[in-house]
Amino acid sequence: MTPMTGDEMVALSKKHTLFEWSAQGSVDPIPVARAAGAYFWTPEGKRFLDFNSQLMCVNIGHADPRVVKAMADQLAVLPYANPFMATEPRARLGAKLAELAPGDIDVFFFTNGGSEANENAFKIARAYTGRQKILARYRSYHGATAAAISATGDPRGWSQARLPGFVHVLDPYHGVQRGWDTADQSLEYLEEVIQLEGPSTIAAFILEPVTGTNGILVPPDGYLQGVRELCTRHGILMIVDEVMSGFGRTGEWFAINHWNVVPDIMTMAKGMTSAYIQLGAVGVRQGIADYFRDKPFPGGLTYNSHTLACAAGLATIAVMEEDGLVERAKQTGRLMADLLTELAANHPCVGTVRSIGLFGVVELIRDRATRAPMAPFNGTSPEMTALGAFFREHGLYTFVRWNYFFTNPPLSITEAELREGFAIIDRALSAPDQAVGA
Ligand SMILES: Cc1ncc(COP(=O)(O)O)c(C=O)c1O
Repeated sequence: MTPMTGDEMVALSKKHTLFEWSAQGSVDPIPVARAAGAYFWTPEGKRFLDFNSQLMCVNIGHADPRVVKAMADQLAVLPYANPFMATEPRARLGAKLAELAPGDIDVFFFTNGGSEANENAFKIARAYTGRQKILARYRSYHGATAAAISATGDPRGWSQARLPGFVHVLDPYHGVQRGWDTADQSLEYLEEVIQLEGPSTIAAFILEPVTGTNGILVPPDGYLQGVRELCTRHGILMIVDEVMSGFGRTGEWFAINHWNVVPDIMTMAKGMTSAYIQLGAVGVRQGIADYFRDKPFPGGLTYNSHTLACAAGLATIAVMEEDGLVERAKQTGRLMADLLTELAANHPCVGTVRSIGLFGVVELIRDRATRAPMAPFNGTSPEMTALGAFFREHGLYTFVRWNYFFTNPPLSITEAELREGFAIIDRALSAPDQAVGA
């Protein structure tokens, strides 16, 4: 077969496949032929520096031969066994995750991704507590399937009727203009919602410990500890969604570790296999697992505990350990924080920057006095569109969303590559700088 050109890939993909979350007439995909380390290439050889690890998931970098080999080896021996079987990759990955996850989160149910992990987390919480309601935050994304999109608070949840039983609360962050509440203010408000909803009706509170697509929201110290205390006091299970923040992204294996909190349930996906193949998991504390000793577990999937995916997960974790990628994310993250601070100092359009490890965001404003965002909530603007076009033209790949863009490179990125990306960003920001009022 002759390889396709980029134009052919785009035309045929647009003709016969649907692109997510978009009006199909407006999508403009980048054709991708190959990838290695922190870069990927179009069929014509245009190179992109991947400053978003694709969808914040290729944490170890692209095409690591150690993971590719482990997957090929597994495929040659046992590509699949049904979920009622015990297999070596399943056994080893469960045990490895028990070692890595905080506290006594020792038992895991494997899924195909983050949405299904959250679906199963809700089922588990409802079965275990006998309660129905799930609390979630507005500035959140928990997936696109029925219950996961109902928990999702961001505008992606507007596109379909949410299932009953999901209640949303405000975040400690209110956007670039209004900024942050203190942990105490936010917790007081959360407790009031819990009282008004009836604590005995709430099964769980799900939250991203560091919020991902809704703006890398690193919570004020005390917030997550306070949520833990409130949940414990009211018999509500605390579910942390580590789908994006897990597996080294923040400079710890899991973001929640920064605050030394042990949740009751933890969901994960993405970085677990560095997205070399789809895999998610929901992990529960031993006491919750014990509940299912004499009661049936309320979930199942044909691809549960898939051998190839579990082998990829084990190999990914081995690479992270071998290369010290969690520690490296912490160290490179310090440099990234400095580079972000420099951007903020040098560009009037930068309203605020946030980062933890290699999880970063830059929010743009158009007015230094009012701090009005460069694009409205859930909208865009000519300046943000032009910024995205500049990045693309100059070979920097990242997500531009509303008034912000991300800096989420693979954890394996070198200092030189990181600086290369920030040099492109620095040049890109001179155009939006011009739009800033006095
Ligand atoms: C925090 C979070 N939870 C859940 C999901 C859904 O995961 P998936 O797309 O693998 O179903 C995502 C995906 O971006 C996410 O960022």
